[in-house]
Amino acid sequence: MLLALAGMVLAGCGESSPTILRPGGSAAEDIKRLAMEIFAILSIVLLAVWTLLAIVIIRYRHRPEAMASQTEGNFAIEVIWTLIPTVIVIVLFVLTIRTTHQLALADRGASFTAVGHQWWWEFDFEHEGFKTANEVHVPVDQVVSIDIVSSDVIHSFWVPQMGGKVDMIPGRVNHDRFLPVEEGTYLGECAEFCGADHGTMRFLFVVESPEEFSAWVANQRRPAAEPTTPAAIAGARVIATVGCSGCHTIRGTTLGGIVGPDLTHFGSRGGIAAYTLPNTPANLKKWLTDPQAVKPECHMPRTPLPGAQIDELVAYLEGLK
Ligand code: CUA
Repeated sequence: MLLALAGMVLAGCGESSPTILRPGGSAAEDIKRLAMEIFAILSIVLLAVWTLLAIVIIRYRHRPEAMASQTEGNFAIEVIWTLIPTVIVIVLFVLTIRTTHQLALADRGASFTAVGHQWWWEFDFEHEGFKTANEVHVPVDQVVSIDIVSSDVIHSFWVPQMGGKVDMIPGRVNHDRFLPVEEGTYLGECAEFCGADHGTMRFLFVVESPEEFSAWVANQRRPAAEPTTPAAIAGARVIATVGCSGCHTIRGTTLGGIVGPDLTHFGSRGGIAAYTLPNTPANLKKWLTDPQAVKPECHMPRTPLPGAQIDELVAYLEGLK
């Protein structure tokens, strides 16, 4: 049992694992502290019960009677075992209320809006005038304030190392605020079952220095990079004719679809298909060739092109830094 428990705990400790045990933000730290306090209190209860049980089992194991002597009621004991759990519950209640207050940060207006889609994430920086998808950057040591909405069904916004889950509910705006305190790349995921691809609805949450963040914003605001290599130039022609514009926007080109992720700076992102795969040319080719093999039931259609033209598309898209 202890081995199983240790296995479960250690399984959450891989370098890339989005474990709440390694917080990178203020809210996650508060939540971890509360989780550890509750774990400690409940461990003491468990140990006390096991110890008493062991004492009784060992001490009275040789009693010959088939049945224990029957007594009825003991006022003192009844009071004690009512009081102890009551005190424990009150302590847990107070700790939880304290954490809830710690988590409540003052409203400073949203930094951006996170929109849940089946099965990807849209990040809308309204003030800066751009949208991106499946990867969002924020500056370290500045409170990030997020408006959280959904375009279809209920999803749940969760970056485990930053803070708690916030439901994304159609027709309603929820809010999340926390202070990222450690630079790094964190995994975000959907924490509410939202259909077939719920399990591959992920994104990257990048905490970086204010300078790096400003550079990221400046780059995201720019229209798409012009293709430079022959393959990429051919790819730009292909993408304009093959139907991608029905869903995707690439600012600065004729692509203006709004159903799918904005691809203006696709090449700068770490992942493909809501971080189902790392963003490499080989993975992008796999995705364009047979999306259902990568992310079953997703709404991305197969790209009906011969392999050579897919390669040109890949060259163009990966150049959109
Ligand atoms: Cu979106 Cu689960």
